[in-house]
Amino acid sequence: MSTPRDSFSSKFGVIAAAAGSAIGLGNIWKFPYIAGENGGGVFLLVYLIFIVLVGIPVMMAEFIIGRRAHQNVFGAFRTLSKSRRWRIVGIMGVLAAFFILSFYGTVASWTIEFLTLAVKNSFEGQSAEQIATMFNNFSSSTWKPLIYHLVFMAMTAIIVIGGIEKGIEKYTKILMPLLVVIILYLDINAVSLKGGFEGIKFLFFPDFTKLTPTLFIDALGHSFFTLSLGMGVLLTYASYFKKDTNLTNTSISVATADTIIALLAGVAIFPAVFAFNTEPTAGPGLVFITLPNIFEQMPGGYIFSILFFLLLGVAALTSSISILEVVVAYLAEEHKISRTKATIIASSAIFATGVLCTLSFGPLKNVHIFNWTIFDALDKIASNILLPLGGMFISLFVGWKLNKRIVFGELTNYAGIKIKFFNLFLFITRYLAPISIFIVFLNGIGILKF
Ligand code: PHE
Repeated sequence: MSTPRDSFSSKFGVIAAAAGSAIGLGNIWKFPYIAGENGGGVFLLVYLIFIVLVGIPVMMAEFIIGRRAHQNVFGAFRTLSKSRRWRIVGIMGVLAAFFILSFYGTVASWTIEFLTLAVKNSFEGQSAEQIATMFNNFSSSTWKPLIYHLVFMAMTAIIVIGGIEKGIEKYTKILMPLLVVIILYLDINAVSLKGGFEGIKFLFFPDFTKLTPTLFIDALGHSFFTLSLGMGVLLTYASYFKKDTNLTNTSISVATADTIIALLAGVAIFPAVFAFNTEPTAGPGLVFITLPNIFEQMPGGYIFSILFFLLLGVAALTSSISILEVVVAYLAEEHKISRTKATIIASSAIFATGVLCTLSFGPLKNVHIFNWTIFDALDKIASNILLPLGGMFISLFVGWKLNKRIVFGELTNYAGIKIKFFNLFLFITRYLAPISIFIVFLNGIGILKF
């Protein structure tokens, strides 16, 4: 490949873009709802263990492959290995991107609706039940969610057509720190709610009787989802990294920022869940039916609710562009079509599947795939199967297949940095990460019982 590629302009730009991909609906919408479904504290504990032991090393592995190959996920494996087998990672990655962006757009459409409700001051004076009804009425209707979903996909496509530098960097740098400030303010208000402390206990004190095989697979799947791992997003981003980007530090910074935001979101949501007597197991609508109750009561709630849903939308966009980028880079570079054309094809096809996800809360709610709604099925298949397996192969590739000198070279920037953990890293990528992924996976689908 001799086409000139874009690259990120600054060190902060690199971290901001990777963090922008990682931080999204996964942290603020998905983490609380799936922690809530899996018993709170014990889920958090298992999830944190996976982030450290599997997530960070797999992220480093993606960075190593991407920066070394300078290619999209297909091209990367083609360049670095003669064997065709590894292309399975590319295939699974493109499929996962397709599925994830389909249901991501549905949640983004709820975010847009809640932004308009915030602007219209519709939460004022509403009870918790009334807010839940607002959510249910909207998500189960047909046209408005579809239109908002389309708007979101169109915005994603427009940014991706703009290219890496102009498109992605600009949006991430200023707005994510602002989001953190707003969530912190929400936290303060949530914790001071009457009865709110129950929520903190729920989130931070593990109840080990809640441990199930599903919890392990959900925690593993979510650690991949929230870090944007296992499908080549960060691999593709790393192909735009510069020679002096420190891959280890970048992985740790991204994972830390991502985890902090998820925790801050949890600290906002669970106290409110207990204070307003909603159920932690409410499912995908949890954040939407919970947070407006806090806005409704707190000083400056009107302004903050607008800012919150606006920035949640932006966080969703900086993630969705990274997902679309995987498919676009693949189409453009492997099939030699223009970026614009690739983006239009990919986003239209994804939107078509997304329509089914959005309608699965309304007209299609009785359509089931393996007992799940279409929305849940795409989420579970992508997050709990495709991403962990992709991560397992990526880890094995770096541990066993890639020349050790290359792995060492990428981690040290070819002698620019000193490292002491190389053997530990090899041990994790060769054994610990792939084996634990495999066991959790077999256990989760019921083949292995422990
Ligand atoms: N990590 C993103 C989030 O938490 C979602 C995502 C998943 C993005 C997979 C890219 C790849 O919202």
